[in-house]
Amino acid sequence: MKFTNCVVVLILFLGTVVAWPIVGIGVQETDSKKESAQTDEPVLNAEKPQESKEDKFKPVDNMHHFMEYISKPSYMELRKILAKEKVSRGEWKKVKQHSLILSETSKLVSERGPADKDQNAEWKKLAFETYQQGAALYKAAGSRKLEVAVKHYGAMMDACNQCHKKFDPKNHQLAK
Ligand code: HEC
Repeated sequence: MKFTNCVVVLILFLGTVVAWPIVGIGVQETDSKKESAQTDEPVLNAEKPQESKEDKFKPVDNMHHFMEYISKPSYMELRKILAKEKVSRGEWKKVKQHSLILSETSKLVSERGPADKDQNAEWKKLAFETYQQGAALYKAAGSRKLEVAVKHYGAMMDACNQCHKKFDPKNHQLAK
């Protein structure tokens, strides 16, 4: 190797050795800058109460409209189909649809009970009963067992009516 070539290689080598830590520090710096940028925006604002995402799901309307627009149409459809002696494939799908609506929305109902502790516990118990019987009805519809389905539909309606007897000012007693 010629002397000049040796010098060029040496300069390149030294250049890399010197530049390496500088580049490294640069990377670290931008990382720590990012962190401090994040901490500049307070994650925990002491003046604002902490609010989880779930808390933002406020009821859209009152219990009356919940029952009228969500529970009632599903109940009426179930009542019509389960009074039949024979239920078609398409009707079983509808039973699944409406029992799923009534069981899953029982969770939402359960969260909207009265403030009083004992009354709230009673409310939750009846919403849970609706949920359990609705879920059992959904399962029976999946295996198309009419007798089992009718039994759970009846028990679910008992739970609906028990809650109405206790908490509905008009005490709607829904016919099975
Ligand atoms: C945990 C309590 C609770 C359960 C369980 C419950 N409801 Fe209700 N329901 C109420 C209350 C309270 C009202 C009265 C709302 C109002 O008018 O202020 C009501 C009212 C109703 C009404 C009358 C609405 C109207 O148009 O006036 C219907 C229909 C109804 N519920 C259907 C159902 C069905 C079907 C179920 C069961 C699948 C059910 N509810 C389960 C609490 C409950």
